[in-house]
Amino acid sequence: MAANTLTIRDNRTGKEVEFPIESGTEGPPVVAVEKFYKEFGLFTLDPGFRSTASCKSKITFIDGEAGVLLYRGYPIEQLAESSSFAEVCYLLLYGELPNQDQYNDFVHKVTHHTMLHEQILNFYKGYRRDAHPMAIMVGVVGALSAFYHDSLDVHNPRHREISAFRLISKIPTIAAASYKYSVGQPFVYPDNGKGYVENFLYMLFSVPCAKYTISPVLVRAMRQIMILHADHEQNASTSTVRLAGSSQANPFAAASAGIGALWGPAHGGANEEVLSMLHEIGSVERVGEYIKRAKDPKDPFRLMGFGHRVYKNYDPRARILKKAAHDVLVELGRGNDPMFKLAMELERIAQEDEYFVTKKLYPNVDFYSGIIQSAIGIPTNMFTVIFAVARMVGWVAQWKEMIEYGEGIGRPRQLYVGAARRDYLFMNERK
Ligand code: CMC
Repeated sequence: MAANTLTIRDNRTGKEVEFPIESGTEGPPVVAVEKFYKEFGLFTLDPGFRSTASCKSKITFIDGEAGVLLYRGYPIEQLAESSSFAEVCYLLLYGELPNQDQYNDFVHKVTHHTMLHEQILNFYKGYRRDAHPMAIMVGVVGALSAFYHDSLDVHNPRHREISAFRLISKIPTIAAASYKYSVGQPFVYPDNGKGYVENFLYMLFSVPCAKYTISPVLVRAMRQIMILHADHEQNASTSTVRLAGSSQANPFAAASAGIGALWGPAHGGANEEVLSMLHEIGSVERVGEYIKRAKDPKDPFRLMGFGHRVYKNYDPRARILKKAAHDVLVELGRGNDPMFKLAMELERIAQEDEYFVTKKLYPNVDFYSGIIQSAIGIPTNMFTVIFAVARMVGWVAQWKEMIEYGEGIGRPRQLYVGAARRDYLFMNERK
């Protein structure tokens, strides 16, 4: 028996088969089960992919037990401290940090793709005024394939490159326009003299009638939020992008599918829910009541911003954002912000509570990101949109990797538990 294998025995027949164990650079090895069905006539069942690696990837690594997150091997803490968002985009897309020339060239390309085709702005006007910006995002990003169909051949590396730039460059413009439309303000065109994050904030907050300025502390916090959300290996939305893209659908359609998957409160929608929850709790005195509800198996209430499918330790992104939230509130002269105090008290009590300790439920990235965004003046319904803006580069990098590896169409199997074969009954034969 080879050492690096796992032998599986079918106790019904006595048949034994060795399956290869493959090791990555970091993290637990995997057992390669592609031939499982051929050997045993069995599928493996793993709803929610709790033990299943869906692909090989070189982009992002998470050690959930240790609370570690690496982009292309670089710790998230170092990138959040020292890198620009554009540099992180380059790293995720190409695998290495850029040298100065590569960086300048990349920034130039990203900057010069930020404008939208003017007719896309008409597209916005078809939405109801009170549409949720995520609803607009799903539609507008999908619609890019109707405007940029000169680069939709997914097998052509040049087309993939152009589409990648278009998605990464235009997503802040699209997101800002969805906000401007929802509040009835004029669209703001991008300013090529500004960096990626600064330009995004400018398109969100500036109005033609007033001079626009923003504190560097707020820009830095927003840059950190964007870097921390840029990729997170095979999460629900990224897996959706890879699966949609595996059918060779164009990248705009695949990205739009990812935005849809991100929207839910168990994923990117949680930051919105965290803020609603903090408002609902309202004061430190009521924390106990909500902790009690979160622990009650009969109550569907969960502490939003707590727990994670992969992190069974403090989410490293939450640690960085806790400090950023503090810095932003001090900068805004709100060092004693009651919402921040409430969040910290909730965290403290939850981390001492046996239920949360034994289930390893720690604050996740969404716990503090909402506090920062709300302090900056971003409305709650834009939080998930901002997650989508930041995650776009991760989706694009993962989509490109999937196409470049030639993975073929993703097609999960199932355990069918529905009705067995039966014959059609005419209406008068049915009970
Ligand atoms: N509050 C109370 N109990 C919880 C919570 C919570 N936030 N999260 C998990 N649990 C309990 C859960 O009820 C279960 O208990 P039991 O073992 O008695 O059935 C146990 O902990 C394990 O939970 P799980 O549902 O198996 O964990 P999961 O990996 O399926 O879910 C999660 C992960 C993020 C969906 C979940 O923790 C959750 O709903 N958290 C709140 C929503 C949230 O903050 N989501 C943002 C995720 S981070 C952003 C991102 O990366 O997309």
